[in-house]
Amino acid sequence: MVRRHFIWIAVFLVCSLPAKGTPECTSQCQNRSKVVECVGRNLTRVPSSNKCQRVFSLILDNNWIDLKTGDFASFCGLDAVLSLNRNRIKIISPYAFRNLSKLEKLYLNENKLTNLSRYAFEGLTSLKRLSLSENKLAVIERGIFENLIGAEIFLLNDNVIQNIEVGSFTALRNLKQLELRSNRIEILLNHTFSGLSGLQELDLSNNIVRFMEFNAFRDLTSLNRLNLSRNRIVSVSAVYDLRLTVLDLSFNKVTNLNKDLNRRLTSQHQFAINVSNNSLICDCDIEPLYDWYRNQSSPEGGIAQCAAPPFLHGTPLTEISMQDVCSTNMDATSQTLWTTAAANSNDAMARPGLDEKTESSWTLPVMCVVLGLLGLLQVLLHQDYIVFPVCRTIPRATITPTRELGLWITFMDVNCDQLPPFSPALCPVHVHTSAYMERIA
Ligand SMILES: *[C@@H]1O[C@H](CO)[C@@H](O)[C@H](O)[C@H]1NC(C)=O
Ligand SMILES: *[C@@H]1O[C@H](CO)[C@@H](O)[C@H](O)[C@H]1NC(C)=O
Ligand SMILES: *[C@@H]1O[C@H](CO)[C@@H](O)[C@H](O)[C@H]1NC(C)=O
Ligand SMILES: *[C@@H]1O[C@H](CO)[C@@H](O)[C@H](O)[C@H]1NC(C)=O
Ligand SMILES: *[C@@H]1O[C@H](CO)[C@@H](O)[C@H](O)[C@H]1NC(C)=O
Ligand SMILES: *[C@@H]1O[C@H](CO)[C@@H](O)[C@H](O)[C@H]1NC(C)=O
Ligand SMILES: *[C@@H]1O[C@H](CO)[C@@H](O)[C@H](O)[C@H]1NC(C)=O
Ligand SMILES: *[C@@H]1O[C@H](CO)[C@@H](O)[C@H](O)[C@H]1NC(C)=O
Ligand SMILES: *[C@@H]1O[C@H](CO)[C@@H](O)[C@H](O)[C@H]1NC(C)=O
Repeated sequence: MVRRHFIWIAVFLVCSLPAKGTPECTSQCQNRSKVVECVGRNLTRVPSSNKCQRVFSLILDNNWIDLKTGDFASFCGLDAVLSLNRNRIKIISPYAFRNLSKLEKLYLNENKLTNLSRYAFEGLTSLKRLSLSENKLAVIERGIFENLIGAEIFLLNDNVIQNIEVGSFTALRNLKQLELRSNRIEILLNHTFSGLSGLQELDLSNNIVRFMEFNAFRDLTSLNRLNLSRNRIVSVSAVYDLRLTVLDLSFNKVTNLNKDLNRRLTSQHQFAINVSNNSLICDCDIEPLYDWYRNQSSPEGGIAQCAAPPFLHGTPLTEISMQDVCSTNMDATSQTLWTTAAANSNDAMARPGLDEKTESSWTLPVMCVVLGLLGLLQVLLHQDYIVFPVCRTIPRATITPTRELGLWITFMDVNCDQLPPFSPALCPVHVHTSAYMERIA
């Protein structure tokens, strides 16, 4: 009974004492048990009163509110939910929520936030869930989340985030789930996620990730679900040493897996991978993946298909014959060309001549030059990206993007170690490498 009175008093105070310039909400707010709701009432300000309120949740969705410092000073009892979805919040001023030290969930979806100030979330020491989806955030800056040490779930989907500053998440030891779906993230730098030692789920799907530095996921020691679906990933060398149970790589440009992932496919019981709709090169090294798909009755997302060699283009992985693939006596030239074809599946220019078998090794240098010129031509003609073989020794560890002549050139591993060496003059290497060039948008 005492509780009920409190609620009544709370509602009365919230609704009957509008601040200066605040639209009346006396008859508009509703109390449902412990929740006060003023939804869709065209409020331009947070209703307030002079006394500390005994309200547990405050739902202010669908209004015209823009936040001001001190708006919640009278709601220090708020300990469950503060929901401000679909308002007109452009800026959260420093310390806007400082009196809400008991609040657990804060929803700010569908506002107009472009920028978060360093002290925006100061004082929210009990916050567990923060939702900032469908805003216009472009950068995650270091220090913004510094005080949210209790946070468990962050939702940052559907923004325009391009850049996550290294160290942005360092304080968030308790974070379990981080969603960055549908943003514009292109490159993941080493230690982007440092500090997130408790993170279990990371969703980066539907971005434009095309390059991940070797140590991008380095600090995610508890991660078990990683979603990289719908990006532009070619090399997965950064996905290693993680104890994943689910890895979604569907809809990328992946040509082959790495040793760590292959080992997991063969030795780890609970490991689901999705490499459908990629640019897989179906050579002997594809066997662990082939075995894994053969063991799945009907994998969600469908069965991966081969992109290369040409005669297997479009063939579901489970329908190839490992024996045929492994015994094919491929010479170096055709292997290089397969790589070109695989990573460049919607490109018609590099294709003529693909099916020709070129036996002699002197043709390779010529090919290199021709393909290189073709590639350059493509870039000049504003093609999205090209792949062409380079005849250089590039150690595996030095996969770094370099910016040359206004182009991004990413050297990628194509896993051809088992091939015989080329002719010694121009291509004195055992490991072939392809250059992945992309015009900067
Ligand atoms: C407010 O809460 C009280 C107590 O729970 C209840 O009796 C009353 O009907 C509620 N009012 C509205 C408008 O829901
Ligand atoms: C809010 O404003 C819109 C447009 O001005 C109006 O149609 C609507 O009736 C208003 N709603 C309330 C609850 O006043
Ligand atoms: C809100 O927080 C500020 C700074 O911590 C403090 O000075 C103020 O008294 C608080 N207001 C209420 C109503 O508790
Ligand atoms: C974000 O806001 C801060 C201060 O509020 C300002 O200094 C900074 O330049 C802004 N950043 C962007 C990208 O607008
Ligand atoms: C990854 O994200 C995509 C869409 O963004 C979704 O369709 C897919 O189910 C997700 N994968 C997993 C394993 O949750
Ligand atoms: C990222 O980490 C890898 C492996 O330690 C290192 O080789 C590379 O130079 C690092 N990248 C940068 C930009 O520091
Ligand atoms: C596939 O299943 C067989 C028998 O059920 C098992 O021996 C084998 O290890 C499995 N292979 C993989 C890659 O899971
Ligand atoms: C990829 O496969 C996983 C696990 O089988 C599944 O959960 C996910 O939804 C699939 N992704 C897409 C985009 O279908
Ligand atoms: C994705 O791959 C599946 C087979 O795994 C295929 O049926 C589907 O058409 C592909 N989707 C696209 C958009 O290419």
